[in-house]
Amino acid sequence: MLVSAKEMLNKAKEGHYAVGQFNINNLEWTKAVLLTAEEMKSPVILGVSEGAGKYMCGFKTVADMVKSMINELKITVPVALHLDHGSYEGCYKCIEAGFSSIMFDGSHYPIDENVAKTRELVEVCAQKGLSLEAEVGSIGGEEDGVVGMGECADPNECKMIADLGVDMLAAGIGNIHGKYPANWAGLSFETLAAVSEKVGKMPLVLHGGTGIPEDMIKRAISLGVSKINVNTECQLAFAAATRAYVEAGKDLEGKGFDPRKLLAPGVEAIKATVREKMELFGSVGKA
Ligand code: 13P
Repeated sequence: MLVSAKEMLNKAKEGHYAVGQFNINNLEWTKAVLLTAEEMKSPVILGVSEGAGKYMCGFKTVADMVKSMINELKITVPVALHLDHGSYEGCYKCIEAGFSSIMFDGSHYPIDENVAKTRELVEVCAQKGLSLEAEVGSIGGEEDGVVGMGECADPNECKMIADLGVDMLAAGIGNIHGKYPANWAGLSFETLAAVSEKVGKMPLVLHGGTGIPEDMIKRAISLGVSKINVNTECQLAFAAATRAYVEAGKDLEGKGFDPRKLLAPGVEAIKATVREKMELFGSVGKA
């Protein structure tokens, strides 16, 4: 069932668990995440960055693929198809293409411009039944060529954006995309607690889910995080399993070169990662 992320996240906030956003890159990725969500009876959010959208031949191709797959695979759990770190123009393209949820990342604009553009998108999304994520304070690290330094969000600015009526808010709390460096200072729970207090019932989003230790994930959920984004960890798992298959020479045995065989260990590795995250986030059985 393709739905907006609004209801699943409000339920998660109330129930003190988080829904995973898993970024997709191709057909195998999408299938792996959808089948795992169904198996775990968990709601799920499929994240699509602008770069991944382009790679998959445009947002319309992605939306049509996801809708058909939900249908053909008989997926009954709630699924949101969500633009990740969308530009202003990208948001409109995804609304047009049939996404059910978008993130407008206006964190690099001055706060007044972020507010103005977010306000406009709140109205458009409300009319069309999509959910909207906004961002305050940038997420560090690199994702698809977009590099952020990572700055903790100002709780007052978070309240300004939350009051516009967005459905979920990503607030920078020292989190970064990609692998965390050895000297990473950890999440700023002080910032998270202050943001949480200001925004009340608003579901908060934790980007950069890869490599955050379990205890920090649990503490973040207890302080109001209801959506956690994971991208790199699935990529690493897929790459390691594919490497093991090729290094063991399996592609040279029989018809081991068949793409359905060659990609199968990577797909299983994505599934295992998604399963593990859903258990950690507490979303299993919540569909
Ligand atoms: P990671 O790649 O660090 O898991 O971050 C994913 C993310 O936040 C997508 O927006």
